[in-house]
Amino acid sequence: MNIQWDAEKYTNDFSFVHQYGSSLLDLIDGENLSVLDLGCGSGALTKELAERGCDAEGIDASAELLQTARTHYPELRFTQADAVSFQMGRQFDVVFSNAVFHWIDREKQADMIAHVFDALKPQGQFIFEFGGHGNNALIHGALARAFEARNLTYQMPFYFPTVGEYASLLEQGGFVVRTALLLDRPTRLNGGDGLCEWIRMFVKAPFEGIGPDLREEIIRSAAADLEVILCHNGSWYADYVRLQCKAVKPLVRKKKKENSS
Ligand code: BEZ
Repeated sequence: MNIQWDAEKYTNDFSFVHQYGSSLLDLIDGENLSVLDLGCGSGALTKELAERGCDAEGIDASAELLQTARTHYPELRFTQADAVSFQMGRQFDVVFSNAVFHWIDREKQADMIAHVFDALKPQGQFIFEFGGHGNNALIHGALARAFEARNLTYQMPFYFPTVGEYASLLEQGGFVVRTALLLDRPTRLNGGDGLCEWIRMFVKAPFEGIGPDLREEIIRSAAADLEVILCHNGSWYADYVRLQCKAVKPLVRKKKKENSS
């Protein structure tokens, strides 16, 4: 899924996305590693990887986010490429990714995993986190109710798999899964209008074809529905659930089973 990003707003008002991603870097084993930051966005974690001594390079599909990344970190390499079709022309010790894979449709996940596999050296580490099963369920539920109340249908625009489903996709792609966890991470949003701002920034596809007034009415209605549950002392919290994984490319790839019946 390609969306048009407001790169400055994303970088400044939604900085928790990369701040939480920072702890994911601790899962990387080894030193002086080459690391590909897949879906690097505005480059904050690519920069942190470089500060930790990695030879880090970022790719992202968004020209707007890459422009911000290049402006902030001109010393780093950033390339425009899609996660489901990228080819780097070299292999890395680590492919790292934060808060990206829920944007990729279920049917395209195997292609993305295959490209990561090819981009890794044998024994290379694939370390990532994204929205897992139940992610933002309260928010999407409230939006679905607000759509239905207006005789509209809410199409869930994200992929939030279970640990079992995703570990199996990784294994089918040739990886050995070392850890796979589903973690609750209630996350404080910026500003008194935090939830509406979050919806405006991230939930775009379901509103295609809906005019700006009705869109705003739906967003306000969903937020009013959730105020008691997600707003505490004037601060909004999003019900994030993360799927965090570390998988390794084996030295020798196991042969795929022939049509097992
Ligand atoms: C997430 O990081 O889980 C996420 C952010 C925006 C939209 C959907 C998921």
